[in-house]
Amino acid sequence: MERMRRLRSSQRMRTLVQENRLSADEFIYPIFIAEGKGIKEPVPSMPGIFQWSVDTLPEILDQVLESGVRALLVFGVPAHKDPEGSEAYNEHGVTQEGIRFIKKYAPELLVIADVCLCEYTSHGHCGLVRDGIILNDETLPLLARASVTLARAGADMIAPSDMMDGRVAVIRQALDGAGFINTPVMAYSAKFASVYYSPFRDAAHSAPAFGDRRTYQMDPPNGKEALRECLADIEEGADIVIVKPALAYLDVVKDVSQTVRVPVCTYNVSGEYAMVKAAAAKGWIDERRVVLENLISMKRAGADMIITYHALDAAGWLRQQQGKD
Ligand code: PBG
Ligand code: ZN
Repeated sequence: MERMRRLRSSQRMRTLVQENRLSADEFIYPIFIAEGKGIKEPVPSMPGIFQWSVDTLPEILDQVLESGVRALLVFGVPAHKDPEGSEAYNEHGVTQEGIRFIKKYAPELLVIADVCLCEYTSHGHCGLVRDGIILNDETLPLLARASVTLARAGADMIAPSDMMDGRVAVIRQALDGAGFINTPVMAYSAKFASVYYSPFRDAAHSAPAFGDRRTYQMDPPNGKEALRECLADIEEGADIVIVKPALAYLDVVKDVSQTVRVPVCTYNVSGEYAMVKAAAAKGWIDERRVVLENLISMKRAGADMIITYHALDAAGWLRQQQGKD
């Protein structure tokens, strides 16, 4: 008789036949950098996550270095917002200065710069707005400008999260034109219009002042369209594609990873983090076990790397696990 239980008899045996593994090498940790001084501001809906100012960054960077995580995704929270999001492409904006500082303080960290306008615009949309419409083509040159300033500040990779059509091509061209031919673009290609982003909008102060993001982010019912988005971005020059959110979209992660030939990243977003933290705080679930189970599900679906707010904790748990083996 086929006895599936033979290979489950001990931890040693289970480890031997384990099909997927987690590693801190594949984690990307998001960091919020706010303009100002002496800031370590907790994000209420994301326990354990803070906004930092450039001068307080060493505290969190030391934790990152200690954890073994080696990649960061950087978001900026500027003091000044306007309809054009000008701080997004200010050579000395908070994000640019933050990246400059990180590359100096911890050159061994890979710094990925999120590129979007929503943290910088007074209306909170990811593009320029006219008569209540989010403009596509008019937004593209601004995203390209922002990308070049971030590359100049030292970003190792550019990650556009705006979901305007055609932005990857325009950003690629601008980076090449400015001499950054070797700076990869990691595109948020299949980014769904999701309620799971709401805690992030607390963290980045980027909630839209009117309407929502449904005319540019993807409609949750659509899976095949996510493949088209990824293929279009790859055609335009994306080096890595992102599927976001992760957990409610693991089918998309799987489809994309089986279809494309570039690395696939998935973003374990703020709402997914908040739900786990809330249940854990109530003692309703074992945080460590649920986080590791969630993360391995992303690997099983085919993700090559994971952006996650749990990165530092998870890296620590993985180290403990290895120590015990
Ligand atoms: C900005 C951006 C968002 C996230 C990453 N980049 C928010 C949004 O599109 O509203 C979400 C991250 C998260 O929820 O953790 N475009
Ligand atoms: Zn945005």
